[in-house]
Amino acid sequence: MPDNHDKMTDSKIIKGFSKLSKEAKMEWIIKEYLNNDAEAIDFLKSYWHPDKDKQKLHDEFIENTITNFYIPFGVAPNFKINDKVYCVPMAIEESSVVAASAKSASFWLQRGGFKAQVLSTIKIGHVHFAWYGKYERLKAFFDKVKHKLFEGTEELTANMRARGGGILDIELVNKSDLEPNYYQLMAKFETCDSMGANFINSCLEEFSKIFQAEMEVDDELNSDEKRIQVIMCILSNYTPECIVRSEVSCPIEQLTEGTDITPEKFCEKFEQAIHVAQIEPYRATTHNKGIFNGIDSVVIATGNDFRAVEACGHTYAARDGQYRSLTNVEVKDGIFRFWIDIPMALGTVGGLTKLHPMVSFAHKLLGNPNAEELMMITATVGLAQNFGAIRSLVTTGIQKGHMKMHLLNILNQLGATEEEKTQAAIYFQDKVVAHKDVVNYFCSLRGIESPDKVKK
Ligand code: MEV
Repeated sequence: MPDNHDKMTDSKIIKGFSKLSKEAKMEWIIKEYLNNDAEAIDFLKSYWHPDKDKQKLHDEFIENTITNFYIPFGVAPNFKINDKVYCVPMAIEESSVVAASAKSASFWLQRGGFKAQVLSTIKIGHVHFAWYGKYERLKAFFDKVKHKLFEGTEELTANMRARGGGILDIELVNKSDLEPNYYQLMAKFETCDSMGANFINSCLEEFSKIFQAEMEVDDELNSDEKRIQVIMCILSNYTPECIVRSEVSCPIEQLTEGTDITPEKFCEKFEQAIHVAQIEPYRATTHNKGIFNGIDSVVIATGNDFRAVEACGHTYAARDGQYRSLTNVEVKDGIFRFWIDIPMALGTVGGLTKLHPMVSFAHKLLGNPNAEELMMITATVGLAQNFGAIRSLVTTGIQKGHMKMHLLNILNQLGATEEEKTQAAIYFQDKVVAHKDVVNYFCSLRGIESPDKVKK
């Protein structure tokens, strides 16, 4: 006999959940996980889009959708990149990120703007397989059938070739020093304005079929050498040959105008900060996290895969075996130069780009850039974000800027009115914003003992 605990656990398990209607899914969740909270359904529904068609579109982006999860969509104006000015869309939940980007953009707008270039655009994918024989024999077989891998995928690649892309090269890679019998077909691709995941994976799966079929009928390989185990066919999100660079530079005197720090001291501390992030992984992680505050928010707003972009950036940051800063600085002959080199596989066609209404809007706002232009914009926002963070860290400290938003968040949680928010902003102008102090101030404004007594 199952005890009560087992019974309880069992009812929390369900088969065929995905087949239930949206309403039935919500009802089941509320019954099993939210103590039949009567208000929960209305709460979830309150985040549905009032236009049924728009809601259906969002429902179908993923599986088991029950409602929408809002993230603010902000913009950072005044980004001058290669002499063109952008107002950059940013989707992010963290306060101060958009403000820091916008502030850096304005700062560099006065100093010539950002210069960006795409250094390379190659994407990579692998057929990972096990094979049991002498490498030289496999290599000879590969060289013989390599042209068939191109020919056998001609139909698949026709559209991409018409757009100027396609398969660039296929190599046999011997990994048997890492793992006995482990080899790869490593293919390089040009995917033009698409991120290319579906294209690459389809090509790889086709390579695998062709390679196995050719091996089966080859009359030079013996029966042992015909034994192949394809482990998997998958693109790599690490794209060290799909790199974008963005940089800024100016005479050092222009860096500290209107502040009380000297340009020399500022440069010295800035260089030290970057150096620390180069040699110390604890700092490098936070440093690069700040860069991705900017990058991810543009990647999300433009409907790209931020997990892929992050994973790739972090692997690149550790490419020499130690995790390091993605940005670099140089101060030479009185000129400050600050730059980022980062791999990034972005698309401006396919995926969510045309499907998600806000993503389409973001692309329009940027003037419908192609993939290379979007790479430059995105890397630039990462650089701007990092410049803003380092500048604050080595001068005023990071909290000063954060405090304004922190104050607003606490006041919003307390249900403060606009008038109360203005008063609080003045009061805390020259004070540290501690949660307890904000609550006390708010209570004193309302003449109450504690926020529980607030009448909303
Ligand atoms: C906070 O989200 C990001 C920073 O910590 C980045 C940094 O320290 O460079 C401010």
